[in-house]
Amino acid sequence: MVQVHDKKFRPFISREAIQKRVAELGRQIDHDYEGLRPLFIAVLNGSFVFASDLFRCITIEAEISFIKLASYKGTTSTGNVVTAIGMEENLHQRHVILLEDIIDTGKTLSAFVPELLSRQPASLRIASFLTKPEALKYDIKADYAGFEVPNKFVVGYGLDYDGLGRNLPELYELAE
Ligand code: IMP
Ligand code: MG
Repeated sequence: MVQVHDKKFRPFISREAIQKRVAELGRQIDHDYEGLRPLFIAVLNGSFVFASDLFRCITIEAEISFIKLASYKGTTSTGNVVTAIGMEENLHQRHVILLEDIIDTGKTLSAFVPELLSRQPASLRIASFLTKPEALKYDIKADYAGFEVPNKFVVGYGLDYDGLGRNLPELYELAE
């Protein structure tokens, strides 16, 4: 058990299992993107550990860049607007792979994907370390998914609970 802030978490997915699965995703992406020089875009903060491990499993020519998503209430009736901070890359005709730590409800990405598509990449896929199918509320799907997890709060491997826990090398789940 580990304590993060006021809550206890128990080991859930081991470091070895994570490394094995991330290497599998790397091989799959290597195979799918051979000759296409994909551009990975990692969504900070949560995906930095996954991005770092996955990118080092890629052996084909590839680039990586990092963005932060800021969401705020828009002035239009559509509600939340999500903009990317730090996205200077020209995406036109690029094969883009978005890297996320977890797709929970899918809200963040469903707001951001249209903005990405408006920059006319040649293709766009999503690689997420985790997905929580039971929590999904928006029409967002990971093309590459590390692990499906139940609808429980998890920390470690880049994911935080109120800022802490990102440095845990394995994944932990909330212990009730
Ligand atoms: P979504 O917009 O609901 O898909 O939420 C995605 C974001 O919520 C992720 O990028 C995480 O930052 C955060 N999140 C969702 N579930 C968890 C969790 O179990 N642990 C830590 N962060 C989470
Ligand atoms: Mg987060």
